[in-house]
Amino acid sequence: MRILVTGGAGYIGSHTVKALINSGYKNIIVIDDLSSGYAKNVLKPAVLIKGDFGDENILSDVFKLKIDTVLHFAAFKSAPESVINPIKYYENNVSKSLLMLEKCLENGVKNFIFSSSAAVYGDVQSFPITEEFETKPTNPYGWSKLFFEQILSDVSAATGLKHVSLRYFNAAGADPEGLLGANHAKGDDLISRLMVESSEKGKFQIFGSDYETKDGTCIRDIVHVSDLASAHVDALRYLVKGGGSEIINLGSESGYSIREIVSITKEITGMDFDVVDAKRRPGDIVVSIASSERAKEIIGWTRNFSDLETIIQTAWNWDKKASEPGHG
Ligand SMILES: NC(=O)c1ccc[n+]([C@@H]2O[C@H](COP(=O)([O-])OP(=O)(O)OC[C@H]3O[C@@H](n4cnc5c(N)ncnc54)[C@H](O)[C@@H]3O)[C@@H](O)[C@H]2O)c1
Repeated sequence: MRILVTGGAGYIGSHTVKALINSGYKNIIVIDDLSSGYAKNVLKPAVLIKGDFGDENILSDVFKLKIDTVLHFAAFKSAPESVINPIKYYENNVSKSLLMLEKCLENGVKNFIFSSSAAVYGDVQSFPITEEFETKPTNPYGWSKLFFEQILSDVSAATGLKHVSLRYFNAAGADPEGLLGANHAKGDDLISRLMVESSEKGKFQIFGSDYETKDGTCIRDIVHVSDLASAHVDALRYLVKGGGSEIINLGSESGYSIREIVSITKEITGMDFDVVDAKRRPGDIVVSIASSERAKEIIGWTRNFSDLETIIQTAWNWDKKASEPGHG
């Protein structure tokens, strides 16, 4: 089997390439333009082609290699940025993805695994969130993911291509063996902000402490990146065994408040920083907790690292390693 991984030099893609290699898949080609990924994240024997996954010349060359499976991670992922610059998001996450999908069909790709997002649900009022919930994205990023899911469903129905769209909740943590991790300095997600602002500024702002939740702060479902990675291997095996197209949530099924996450971070890292209660941020989703029953039932997913302590500990270990002289 030959697998193409777009965005395989990025955070979740690189952990997935590692999981694929460890599961015996050796013929892996990564296309990544390194706009937010790093060449050193692509572990051998996977091969990196540096370039745009929407570049027809690159795709023509790659598909000569008889690819049967595509894992499509490459995308822009900042919801706030997508509000300011929607075209950038629709172009990368929808238009280029559509072009690549056409090439997949022309070249007989059989299996397609897509990185979707919990952002397709928008601001939901009841929990846990199952795949049957209404989809109502609140920003262009979420819409871009929902549009491409719909394109995949329509294309699957009309052709022999089978797809699994995986709706990730908040990914965090780092490879427990210490080979890979996130670049928190560039991230605008909660754990990146926590790691960077608390150590560099000595304070962390919680946006909104007057919500109707257990301690007034927002509730998040955070899932370890290595558990997300193993889900892709499970999804691939499911498709290869003849499974049909599916849309599947991937979350930890636990809801931690921002204040709880801050407190565990202080405990694990030993960092002493001020916690400042700031005003609510427009557009923030109040509570997000996944149901991952379908992932367990259909692809046989199990989580091994998604307790909050392991998530924070591995992220912290990675940050310490990344700050060592000569690293990075
Ligand atoms: N991180 C999360 O919590 C999260 C949650 C839900 C969904 N997702 C989705 O998962 C996927 C991976 O996210 P991530 O956190 O690993 O992000 P990331 O930014 O680390 O990885 C994306 C990779 O795609 C590459 N890329 C982007 N546009 C490209 C292009 N046109 N051509 C070639 N390469 C390109 C980037 O260089 C990067 O290496 C994305 O599709 C994202 O929307 C992420």
